[in-house]
Amino acid sequence: MFAKFILVTALVQLACAQQQFDVLVEFGTNFSTLALETQNEIAELYHFNGEMIREFNRELLLELGRMVPAMREADTSFQAQIESADGVDDDCREYVRDLRELFLLFQNWDIQDCAYYAHVELQFDSLNRFLPYAITFLSENTRSISQVVQSFGRNNGVAGFDALVQELDGEWEYYQTLAVSFGDFLFDEILLHADVADRVYLALYECRETALDLQQSDHEYILEYLDVNCA
Ligand SMILES: *[C@@H]1O[C@H](CO)[C@@H](O)[C@H](O)[C@H]1NC(C)=O
Repeated sequence: MFAKFILVTALVQLACAQQQFDVLVEFGTNFSTLALETQNEIAELYHFNGEMIREFNRELLLELGRMVPAMREADTSFQAQIESADGVDDDCREYVRDLRELFLLFQNWDIQDCAYYAHVELQFDSLNRFLPYAITFLSENTRSISQVVQSFGRNNGVAGFDALVQELDGEWEYYQTLAVSFGDFLFDEILLHADVADRVYLALYECRETALDLQQSDHEYILEYLDVNCA
């Protein structure tokens, strides 16, 4: 009778332990499934982020590409104007050619400045938006894979099984919320690239207009020498 009682108790405990173990395995499966899904989502966002940055840089390059021919064209017709000016002796024409070359140097610097500031701002945004957060998120997400083992190590699995399940429930809640809110956060980070890109293009456009205006006034200044034969 007594032996039977022990046997039944042992069986019940065994069944109970098996059930408890099943719960832990289920938690483990759930955590790693979520971690994998989240990791895939981060990977997709990472690609999207890269595409976005490449696209903005391509547009930036196009914008700069438009700037150079415009200034070169203005310079070409300016040179023709120097060569065809009437009533100018050789010394004066030579002097004016030198002036043009000197000012051309400044004009090139203007273009370079425009490109430099645009590049710096885009570059800063490329590196400081999205990426640091994605890395943090990724490592936090990876931690969730070993959450069950970690919690098991922290809790007394035999006596405090309920506390262990409670902790895992809490962590499960946390990772699910994290996956959703951080996914949204990262997506917004990517969209914010557009604001910076808009600002950079606008600044670049203004920079280009200013550079063209400056070139125009350089030419007018130099032409004044031609008008009076460098007198
Ligand atoms: C595991 O995920 C399934 C499906 O989402 C859910 O029904 C179940 O309650 C989860 N198990 C645990 C232990 O959280």
